Amino acid sequence: MDIRSEKGASIYTPLILKLYDTWVLNISNNYAWRCNTDNILLPHFKQNMAKSHLDIGVGTGYYLANARKSSDAITLLDLNPNSLAAAKKRIGAHRIKHVLQHDIFTPLPESEKNKYDSVSMYYLLHCLQGNIKEKASAIENASQALTEKGTLHGATILGSGVEHNAFGRYLMKVYNKKGIFSNKFDSLNDLKNVLDHYFDQVNIQQHGVVAVFTAAGKK
Ligand SMILES: C[S@@+](CC[C@H](N)C(=O)[O-])C[C@H]1O[C@@H](n2cnc3c(N)ncnc32)[C@H](O)[C@@H]1O
Repeated sequence: MDIRSEKGASIYTPLILKLYDTWVLNISNNYAWRCNTDNILLPHFKQNMAKSHLDIGVGTGYYLANARKSSDAITLLDLNPNSLAAAKKRIGAHRIKHVLQHDIFTPLPESEKNKYDSVSMYYLLHCLQGNIKEKASAIENASQALTEKGTLHGATILGSGVEHNAFGRYLMKVYNKKGIFSNKFDSLNDLKNVLDHYFDQVNIQQHGVVAVFTAAGKK
């Protein structure tokens, strides 16, 4: 495993994944990042999920498990086998077409290109090492999975140009020091510039310190 990628993925042990929904999706999203999971992120996910769907950075599979009606032709992609196993179990094996252990910094296999009407990456970009410009290759690789009419959607915690509260500042400091996050310099503007580089139609909204985006019309 590339050391650059390993840092953002290896933290997700079976134990951490058991605590993930409570700590991240409930407590941290509400009180540190000020972006409610069920009012903001889940509706965004549901609204943009198509029938043929690829989820990158699956975690516990929370969004897919709660977007039941949308699709049962799902591909899961993650670097960490623990995340893939937990998400597959949570979502239901019958809804999963394909499971791919893969580093999103590496180009996708040909079989995964031009294939999906929607690709999601929620809370993945802030885990990837480097600044937003260095993360551009992950966005480029994700864009290649999309059909011509497909949409990339996701969310990421910003570190620059936003007002973190005391709880958020504390988590940012600890997570960035440990390499769980690498987002100190991630700004809305830089994210928009990278998405604009690969897509014709980009929409980004900021909720708390989280950028929530869609990008369609891949170039
Ligand atoms: C913070 S979790 C997000 C989980 C879920 N999408 C959510 O929003 O609840 C990040 C996930 O991205 C995965 N990940 C981190 N770096 C990766 C990489 N370079 N390639 C693929 N997956 C990666 C981790 O293993 C983990 O499952």
